[in-house]
Amino acid sequence: MARRVALVNNKGGVGKTTTTVRLAEGLAKAGKRVLVVDMDPQGNASSMLGWFYDHGLKQPTISQAIRADTEGAAAGVIQPIGWDAPYAGRIALAPARLTLENRMAEAGVDGAWLRLDTALNGADDSFDYTLLDCPPSVFHLTQLALAAADDVVIVTEADIYAIEAAERVRDFVNVRAPKSLANPTLTIRGVVINALTTTAVQAEQRDSIRRIFGDLVWDPTIKHRTTLAEAGTDALPLTGPRTAEPRASFELLTASFLKAVPAE
Ligand SMILES: Nc1ncnc2c1ncn2[C@@H]1O[C@H](COP(=O)(O)OP(=O)(O)O)[C@@H](O)[C@H]1O
Ligand SMILES: [Mg+2]
Repeated sequence: MARRVALVNNKGGVGKTTTTVRLAEGLAKAGKRVLVVDMDPQGNASSMLGWFYDHGLKQPTISQAIRADTEGAAAGVIQPIGWDAPYAGRIALAPARLTLENRMAEAGVDGAWLRLDTALNGADDSFDYTLLDCPPSVFHLTQLALAAADDVVIVTEADIYAIEAAERVRDFVNVRAPKSLANPTLTIRGVVINALTTTAVQAEQRDSIRRIFGDLVWDPTIKHRTTLAEAGTDALPLTGPRTAEPRASFELLTASFLKAVPAE
């Protein structure tokens, strides 16, 4: 059984997708089999993993599996990633593109928030982890992920609005998820501080995240690195000397992940 972990923040641009992809990479390097489910219609996780929609091939996406509303439907949309790396075979992808927006129309349909869980049941058994990369909201697409997940990791920047958005996620998971999503065992396992710079304001905000979330904050914090952003937009794994620092940071973050969210 895969342990399903949703990476969430109510704010965009804080590094949810980067963290999802780099944790998948770290876990694969550690020998784990990882399924990445792209739950953002922007499809950034899919692109970062080197998956691109081909209008001739018309590859299936997670939207179709959710629409199907049948047990294990996600099996039909899981595909290899596009990276050239020795561990790439241990990462698989349920990709997304803009059509995932269409699932929003079902937000008001009774029980529709269970459809991703239904689609994944039986489809992700052969993985150690399923990482769910969420859009910057706590509305329907994120709720699909939270209904399917066992655990939550909040990704944030050391920024006041990102922290407020992280608190909204915490409250949603702790207060609303048990009732509205019938997922009382959903648990926040970690908070990742991303894109930290060396300014005094950032240090203050980092300390305030530690005050708010305490031991949930994982080490290390991820520094702001242009090479990390470039590897993302170039759809590349973190290999080579230019990405040595972020690569080492994400290896350590992967160790924190494995400690906080042990595989079953
Ligand atoms: N640690 C970092 N250093 C530099 N750039 C980063 C870092 N983390 C993310 N980025 C960049 O910031 C942008 C937003 O990151 P992304 O992971 O897409 O955030 P989200 O998924 O929360 O919207 C992307 O262009 C990404 O490459
Ligand atoms: Mg994203």
